[in-house]
Amino acid sequence: MSLTKIVSATCIVLGAALASGVVWAVDVVEADAASAWARPMLLGAHRGGKGEWPENTVLAFSEAATQYPDILLEGDLQLSKDGVVVVIHDRTVDRTTNGSGTVQELTLAQLKALDAGYHFSSDGGKTYPYRGTGITIPTLDEILQAMPKNRALFELKDGEGLVAKVVPLLRKHGAADRILIASFKPELMAAMREQMPEIATCFDRGGALALLSALRTGDWSAYEPTARMLSLPKRYIVQFKLTAEEFRKMQEKGVLIQVHTLNTPEEMDHFRAMGVDSILTDYPALLARCLTARNNQLEPRIKR
Ligand code: G3P
Ligand code: CA
Repeated sequence: MSLTKIVSATCIVLGAALASGVVWAVDVVEADAASAWARPMLLGAHRGGKGEWPENTVLAFSEAATQYPDILLEGDLQLSKDGVVVVIHDRTVDRTTNGSGTVQELTLAQLKALDAGYHFSSDGGKTYPYRGTGITIPTLDEILQAMPKNRALFELKDGEGLVAKVVPLLRKHGAADRILIASFKPELMAAMREQMPEIATCFDRGGALALLSALRTGDWSAYEPTARMLSLPKRYIVQFKLTAEEFRKMQEKGVLIQVHTLNTPEEMDHFRAMGVDSILTDYPALLARCLTARNNQLEPRIKR
């Protein structure tokens, strides 16, 4: 297949991927040395590190933030019925709590009454160490308090008026310069850019397509990225045959590359060797060990 056909096919599939929200890139571009995004990251905690702690909870975010100050924390935002920004991935509370129902149909008080540690088990269901220990679905306000200096990537999941509620919280915590915002909903990203132009946000679909197209068939020397990070599920890196050399070319333009979600030492080593800037994992301790073994200097501050 010719390169043109490969790029064309890639763009079609990538377009579909973007439409489903699985490929992200974060706006920016002009990074200076003091930028939070100029510091090495590599270690990223998917939903706060959901293999080690109950996902998207204050416990997960504060443990990960304390143990690995340079980590990139990732979490998901929605609105409760009464308009409070809460951190939870699924549309319903059923999988992660002892309750049932959709997040948007439950008030904050109803959400807070649920046990968000109920279903967590790290031994295949033999034990549930966090049941009944008071772990709740957190508000974004609580999560930001738990990570006062750390970097995070928040995904806007759903909820009318979500952006208008997120923006003042980020400003209240002075977090704009260390938070990335992503969403699979273009209208939420547009609202975010309009209401908080100073924050790093996701590329629109066309921007990511333009990046790949310029890289493979366009005038790459003239291309100016509108993003600092391209975040890809590992399967798309394989499917689109993205190479270390292509990553390097993007990075030369100031684009950071993130891959998710990696949970085995083999895939962590593989993508680290490709030169990605950030890896999201459910198991930060495992990733930290892999990176430390490769001299990436990410020993946890608190030894376990
Ligand atoms: O950052 C990418 C990652 O968050 C996508 O996975 O399904 O956990 O939102 P998901
Ligand atoms: Ca997410």
